[in-house]
Amino acid sequence: MMILPLFFIFCLFSSSHAAVQDFCVGDLAAPQGPAGYSCKDPSKVTVNDFVFSGLGIPGNTSNLIKAALTPAFAAQFPGVNGLGISLVRLDMAPGGVVPFHTHPGGSEILIVVQGTIFAGFVSLANTVYSKTLNKGDVIVFPQGLLHFQVNAGGTLATAFASFSSQSPGLQIVDYALFGNNLPTELVAATTFLDAAQIIKLKRAFGGTG
Ligand SMILES: *[C@@H]1O[C@H](CO)[C@@H](O)[C@H](O)[C@H]1NC(C)=O
Repeated sequence: MMILPLFFIFCLFSSSHAAVQDFCVGDLAAPQGPAGYSCKDPSKVTVNDFVFSGLGIPGNTSNLIKAALTPAFAAQFPGVNGLGISLVRLDMAPGGVVPFHTHPGGSEILIVVQGTIFAGFVSLANTVYSKTLNKGDVIVFPQGLLHFQVNAGGTLATAFASFSSQSPGLQIVDYALFGNNLPTELVAATTFLDAAQIIKLKRAFGGTG
């Protein structure tokens, strides 16, 4: 049989290029680059780098959006550095919302574990895909697309979401538009909103100008 020897030769060639690295726990003391954090000295790595214990506690929803995101991204959970995965906990009080936002770095898959959440995303063709989700329902938000979650019930809603990135990033449209010092005239010119509405939203989201 010629197939087996050829297979072994192929394995020899394909494995000769790079050393296999089992993990790269993030060195959080160093800055993060496009490829993530540099690796912590393996002799200093402990099991606690691979365990994150913060997701059993509901986040504090006493805020404008009545919602809390508790991330276990590489910056909080150095064990996921280099692995392209991470997790977040979402708590929403009645009336809570995660406004339109995007995670530029990865797709998201979210499972509802308590309450009712209306969630959706908008495609590049500006088609809306949205649905009411109950306990056990899962929705996927493709990478980079704008999406939202709204508590659609009268009780606390909780979900967990995982990402195809160790650092998916989070940009919330309201904060990008109204939570900084972009001049009101520029926001008006680029959004077609009235100045009075923009000033009101700047007050709500902490912006100036
Ligand atoms: C929740 O956040 C609010 C507003 O920042 C704060 O006043 C309150 O003490 C926090 N509650 C807890 C339990 O941390």
